[in-house]
Amino acid sequence: MTMLASRRSVLSALMVLPASAAMSGRSKDLFGLSQLESRMDGYRFGAAVRPEQLSGDSPLLSAIRKCDILVPEYHGQWSAVEWRRGDPWYGNYDAIVAFAARHGQSVRGHSLIWEQMTPDWARQEMLEKRDWRTVRKHFASLLPRYSGKIDEWVVVNEMIDTEEGDRDMRRTSFQRAYGNDYVAHALETARIMDPKARLMINEYALYHDNPTDEKRRKALLRLVEKLKAKGVPLDMVGIQGHIELAKGPVPQKRLARFLRDLADTGVTLALTEVDVLESDRSLPLAERDGKVADAIASLLDVARDEPAMTSITTWGLSDRDSWLQERSATTQAALGAVPLDTTMLNRGLPFDGQMQPKRLRATLAAHLPTSRFAASA
Ligand code: XIL
Repeated sequence: MTMLASRRSVLSALMVLPASAAMSGRSKDLFGLSQLESRMDGYRFGAAVRPEQLSGDSPLLSAIRKCDILVPEYHGQWSAVEWRRGDPWYGNYDAIVAFAARHGQSVRGHSLIWEQMTPDWARQEMLEKRDWRTVRKHFASLLPRYSGKIDEWVVVNEMIDTEEGDRDMRRTSFQRAYGNDYVAHALETARIMDPKARLMINEYALYHDNPTDEKRRKALLRLVEKLKAKGVPLDMVGIQGHIELAKGPVPQKRLARFLRDLADTGVTLALTEVDVLESDRSLPLAERDGKVADAIASLLDVARDEPAMTSITTWGLSDRDSWLQERSATTQAALGAVPLDTTMLNRGLPFDGQMQPKRLRATLAAHLPTSRFAASA
């Protein structure tokens, strides 16, 4: 799609904005104009990166330079920054911020609160003292330091649990120590520490056609509606896109409706953590790569038609470094083999295990005409 065509689709989207959208939170910003403006430039592409991929001889360097947005894959988490209480180490965030500044890229902080990578000392302290100062100190160590350098933060990651949660909120240390309002408190605290940063929450398992994902979509929408109604400073919602081919095709209409409903509350949106877990690695490679590319194309088709969508980030660039390999016994066997048989890896990212571009690379370029990723490899 050309720049002109994408502008056109934005303008036609404006024409058909339902009255309800204009009347809701979006009216605050002139019928959602700030959302549309962000989309006028087309939406952007980014990827999760690991610190070692940013150094001089990394085979991923040229692909990383083509990203508009960089996200630390795991080294931005609380437990990776401050594994010893009161002794934060900023080396990794500093490296990614410096790299991004050199290449004119933006950085998304990931994440301030995520139960899974919260240090044990912090869990203990929160549960014992129930004192918000534990969280405030953590935020104060990162947000002001990177103000103007990290322009988007995942403030809370993965907070919904419709099966065993408390009114759909996951029973995490944060939730246990501070109650379900911890999400609102976290956003308010983050806004004070860096008034300029865009603040987001980010959630998974929202894109498949099954009763669990449907419940999770409803729960997230209710949470976002509640936060926005209370005036909590929530700017963006991240929809994690870990697609599992075994779970069937992405239900495009349902997803489109869900994105629209979220946007109607006044937030902008991002597709985050996009990758594909394959279901059959015995198929010919071209067929496997086609299925992966088509699955992501179906997400991108929905995203393209949603004016509030600002970006898509994949969870890594190369299969060799994908976290999905950690989840697969087949891959564990392949990684143990010498030499590495990269065809046995899950092939859910744009580049294969030897950094060769796959069909997905071209699919992304075609769908993101205004991203620097659209330029040939
Ligand atoms: C994963 C990383 O990719 C792994 O390397 C790490 O060991 C665990 O975390 N949802 C998220 C991401 O929000 O932070 C997770 O990343 C993947 C699931």
